[in-house]
Amino acid sequence: MIRLFFLFFFLIFSCEASVQDFCVADFTAPEGPAGYSCKNPANVTVDDFVFSGLGKAGNTTNLIKAAVTPAFAAQFPGLNGLGISIARLDLAPGGVVPMHTHPGATELLVVVQGSIATAFISSANTVYLKTLKKGDIMVYPQGLLHFQINAGGIPAIAFVSFSSPNPGLQITDFAFFANNLPSILVEKTTFLDAAQVKKLKAVLGGTG
Ligand SMILES: *[C@@H]1O[C@H](CO)[C@@H](O)[C@H](O)[C@H]1NC(C)=O
Ligand SMILES: *[C@@H]1O[C@H](CO)[C@@H](O)[C@H](O)[C@H]1NC(C)=O
Repeated sequence: MIRLFFLFFFLIFSCEASVQDFCVADFTAPEGPAGYSCKNPANVTVDDFVFSGLGKAGNTTNLIKAAVTPAFAAQFPGLNGLGISIARLDLAPGGVVPMHTHPGATELLVVVQGSIATAFISSANTVYLKTLKKGDIMVYPQGLLHFQINAGGIPAIAFVSFSSPNPGLQITDFAFFANNLPSILVEKTTFLDAAQVKKLKAVLGGTG
């Protein structure tokens, strides 16, 4: 009976000792496939769980007239290991986030200003297209191609949340035209002609 009693307390104690509420990123150690290693809880403060960088517009003076300001694990240490993250999207009039995927996360977008034309394309190549207005939310299933275009005459703002602290990003145009993949292979794999490939590589900074 006494032994059982001690066993009981030992089990409770060891369970409590194994609970870990969070794993705030320790940026002094390298990042592994499972994220950053954990900062010593004794050195964690409330500021690790607060990120103040999404209050101001990103710089949209660029080719796509768009800016994404991330609050991912690399910027927001408290997110590490919690399976979630957020970013701000600014789209100037005429702005576009070109066709892209997030290999590591499902995305939830909420429009807080302006209107945004957006679609994702399923594995069956079905297009799910909608023009969203302020207050509308759209979900993009993990890994599927999607885009956002400003559909109004004023700057559009959205917040996008991801089901991972590291959603990843691959922009299709950049994958084809912004690197040194030989033009002949780009032509063969896209069915574009040489002049079109040359033009897109010039715009996006590709070589080869
Ligand atoms: C906490 O931070 C202080 C100052 O940055 C450092 O000297 C100390 O080693 C840290 N303690 C732990 C337990 O990581
Ligand atoms: C925005 O980016 C452009 C192009 O890089 C740059 O010339 C401009 O100074 C930036 N504006 C601000 C406010 O940082």
